[in-house]
Amino acid sequence: MQPDPTSSQPEIEALLVEQRTFPPDPGFAARANATADLHAEAERDVEAFWAAQARERISWFTPFETTLEWDLPFARWFDGGTLNVAYNCVDRHVERGLGEKVAYHWIGEPGDRQTITYRDLQARVNRAANALRELGVAKGDRVAIYLPMIPELPVAMLACAKLGAPFTVVFGGFSSEALADRINDAGAKVLVTADGGWRRGRKVGLKHHADAAVASTPTIEHVLVVSRLRDGCHMVEGRDHWWGETVDRQSDRCDPVPVESEHLLYLLYTSGTTAKPKGIVHTTAGYLLGTSFTHHAVFDVKPDDVYWCAADIGWVTGHSYIVFGPLANATTGIIYEGAPDTPAWDRWWQIVEEYGVTILYTAPTAIRSFMKQGEAWPRGHDLSSLRLLGSVGEPINPEAWLWYHTHVGGGRAPIVDTWWQTETGSILISPLPGVTTTKPGSATFPLPGIGADVVDAAGVPVPPGGGGYLVITRPWPSMLRGIYGDPERYRETYWSRFPGRYFAGDGAKRDEEGYFWLLGRVDDVMNVAGHRLSTIEVESALVDHPSVAEAAVVGKSDEVTGQAIFAFVILRAGHEPSDALALQLREHVAYVIGPIARPRYLLFTPDLPKTRSGKIMRRLLRDIAEGRPLGDTTTLADATVVDTIRENTGSAED
Ligand code: WT7
Repeated sequence: MQPDPTSSQPEIEALLVEQRTFPPDPGFAARANATADLHAEAERDVEAFWAAQARERISWFTPFETTLEWDLPFARWFDGGTLNVAYNCVDRHVERGLGEKVAYHWIGEPGDRQTITYRDLQARVNRAANALRELGVAKGDRVAIYLPMIPELPVAMLACAKLGAPFTVVFGGFSSEALADRINDAGAKVLVTADGGWRRGRKVGLKHHADAAVASTPTIEHVLVVSRLRDGCHMVEGRDHWWGETVDRQSDRCDPVPVESEHLLYLLYTSGTTAKPKGIVHTTAGYLLGTSFTHHAVFDVKPDDVYWCAADIGWVTGHSYIVFGPLANATTGIIYEGAPDTPAWDRWWQIVEEYGVTILYTAPTAIRSFMKQGEAWPRGHDLSSLRLLGSVGEPINPEAWLWYHTHVGGGRAPIVDTWWQTETGSILISPLPGVTTTKPGSATFPLPGIGADVVDAAGVPVPPGGGGYLVITRPWPSMLRGIYGDPERYRETYWSRFPGRYFAGDGAKRDEEGYFWLLGRVDDVMNVAGHRLSTIEVESALVDHPSVAEAAVVGKSDEVTGQAIFAFVILRAGHEPSDALALQLREHVAYVIGPIARPRYLLFTPDLPKTRSGKIMRRLLRDIAEGRPLGDTTTLADATVVDTIRENTGSAED
């Protein structure tokens, strides 16, 4: 929905009021990395703040001369400086005596494991970098990486960084067309892939997708293939090379190639409103600073922590918070290849117990699926090592927040609800643990140095309690530098709606105390009888009911009210769909939010259509609600889900 500047209605009505607050525990606060004065320190002189952080956190080959050059919307950070990301993430730790520290505990789905120290990681990265160099990769050449969650994935990313070769990781679940589009847009010279990977107890082939893609990617000269499944696969003579043969025979020494601060580090493709995916540009120094600073302050990481970000490395969350932020901070991390329900729904809790995980970072969609399975799964394991929990990817419903807090965090671990985007590179809005009093469902405040606001369609800041559009008011070090090859689209998408400010595309509200509450993508806003309602508030009201595990709502066109709310509901284990329960749930929403938000339609469903990163595809739910043919389903994780939902739609109306 487009904002209507002539409307007298508030942009998005903020109706759900969450009252519970969680002040920081004094014991936690006493040891916290973040301190209460950070915000004020940053506000005094924001450029000086970032410059000081950049000197402290990054090892430079040449010091930078200027902190920021801002030619709106094009930013240059730390010009004059040279550095190397792989050196900062690996070599310098070995040099200062941390060679034996574990960088990653890797856990394969079938139960195979690897423990990789910083010294091991250094040797692996160097061999891979030397192999890429042998295949013709030099500074500035692009490399595409299409791998499952195996150690070679971060190794390949770091090997590229070591050579100053920008990379683009394509999530292993994407099709050959999606891979080919990204390779062609990036102009990649080498593709790193694998024969396949493991998913839910099954072998999933990857190389045949890579082969199909490379048939239409003229720039690819060589394909480097990891043997994960050890079954062999089709190899093209001269073009394809086994990792085990090409990488393992290389020298384990490789000097880092110094690059300029604004040198392209990677491209990550994200879907926009049009078909063509956007190649989000991240450069070297600002990105490294943003990820390492936030990883330190938001996750409170200490030298003895065992940190687990359970995302896939193929998404920005994995880039920033499995690879670059944690390694820059010499953290010990967990990488798990598989699914949370394989072999059973306690796989994660078993890993937490066995490795003594202290910090866990995941997404609301995962938390809600754990909720759906019941608290017996986490209760069966000793989770007392956990001292901090994080959430990312979409607004977290207060009930899911409380479930996570109680059943995973033992009522003790603070939760950081972190708002950011592929474009922002690192977390921008989040509590600082030990400092911020949290409220379930609120990402709380912009981090130190970050300017954020909520504005109406005319760009005027909304008063406390009001809803509108989230904007970022000044440049930040890890911001995207553009859309690859398309500066106009960059300006148009992010900087034209509210001149001078970055338009995030998310709705948000600020409460009387200035807390930020994210309300979802503005395209998902519903309009019921002239009231703009956010999907997340109605969904949270549904999930607030004890029988509901997960809910998604969309607007269905209605002659009288413009749109009527159509709710899709997944019940928790032990609850059965019935007309009486549907009625009760509608009333529950009316009670919690107000009669305007009572869903007109409610459908019980076993599953919801999601993207591979777990975001609900409300666009497809709108198609189902309207009874029209489905739009583009290529990014859908499980195509059978929509058919199942469709078969049930007859019974939805009240
Ligand atoms: C969109 C960005 C950034 C890592 C994963 C997603 C939504 C993200 C939150 C949060 C409410 C959130 C926004 C944002 N989002 N985190 N804590 N609360 N919404 O990256 O795929 O680029 O998606 O995810 O809508 O715009 P992405």
